Amino acid sequence: MKVFITRSLPGNIEKLLRKNGHTVVTFKKEYPISKTELIKNARNADALISLLTDKIDSEIIDNLKSCKIIANYATGYNNIDINYAKQKNIIVTNTPDILTNATAEIALTLALACSRRVIEGHEFVKKKKFRGWAPKLLLGIEMTGKTIGIIGAGRIGYAVAKRFKGFDTNIIYYNRSKKNKFETEFGAKKVSLKKLMTDSDIISIQIPLTKESYHLIDKNHLSVLKPNAILINIARGEVVDEKYLIQLLKKGKIHSAGFDVYENEPNIDPELLKLPNVVLLPHIGSATVEARTKMAQLCAENVLRVLKGKSAKTPV
Ligand code: NAP
Ligand code: GLV
Ligand code: GLV
Repeated sequence: MKVFITRSLPGNIEKLLRKNGHTVVTFKKEYPISKTELIKNARNADALISLLTDKIDSEIIDNLKSCKIIANYATGYNNIDINYAKQKNIIVTNTPDILTNATAEIALTLALACSRRVIEGHEFVKKKKFRGWAPKLLLGIEMTGKTIGIIGAGRIGYAVAKRFKGFDTNIIYYNRSKKNKFETEFGAKKVSLKKLMTDSDIISIQIPLTKESYHLIDKNHLSVLKPNAILINIARGEVVDEKYLIQLLKKGKIHSAGFDVYENEPNIDPELLKLPNVVLLPHIGSATVEARTKMAQLCAENVLRVLKGKSAKTPV
């Protein structure tokens, strides 16, 4: 059967898929595939391995004439119209768990880079401005003892909280359901989103993007942040009203913000690029050799199982 992969992935799953008798076609360019090109290649494919940059809407799904599985090379699947895929009897899978630690590490990286002004320090040294140790040079904020607000207390939220807890912080969380692990392991309380935004010193967002969470962190929630608050978004840009957040940062109303994701990825708001109090990463939450290799293997495993008529390992 034919497997179409919309980008070359780490590891060597092509070999594995071929060993199992399948034909593999990979879009080999170093940029996201266009809709036309995707349809042309996936039309007669039995399995599609997609990226989060591929918007798999109803038009694309209508063009998948023999597809049995869309294996998304990501944990988030907001890029896929999963209800429409279900109607068409196409199984959708994602890559949970194996990227949780990598993504949690990026949340901590952003939090520390913001609180300790790592990027400003780096630029300072590179620009040869360092004239020796100084009492008031680049004073940041200490993480120890602070209140950490976790928005979205799922797999990644738990791993983020666990790491912050290592800094002797107090954890509070906002989530749909109560998470007993948070209460027992971290002594963390479930609070309203407004209370979390009001009380937290550092906030980490890792909630999936859905109709309900679009602009969940809006003007009403952003305007109650503490003057020294640090906001980290490793979920999806659209969860936050980015324009309003930029205004807060510009006016110095909060300490800083760390971004791994953006509202109009990969187009970054030019205002954001001018700000000194931000740390900007190019959506690299899961970008470790370990995670990205395992993610490819899991996609291949899901494809192999479904093409054999078995159930998928990680269906959404
Ligand atoms: P997960 O285990 O499914 O956790 C999601 C959590 O969010 C769950 O606890 C869920 O609550 C909660 N939630 C969902 N919708 C909600 C709503 N409307 N209101 C309140 N709580 C809500 O997912 P995960 O593995 O932690 O991944 C989370 C997200 O991180 C992904 O969807 C993806 O967008 C993002 N991500 C980003 C990167 C990156 O590279 N930056 C990498 C991986 C993932 P319940 O348990 O009550 O349902
Ligand atoms: C990355 O953003 C993912 O959802 O895996
Ligand atoms: C700093 O380097 C110190 O020794 O306090």
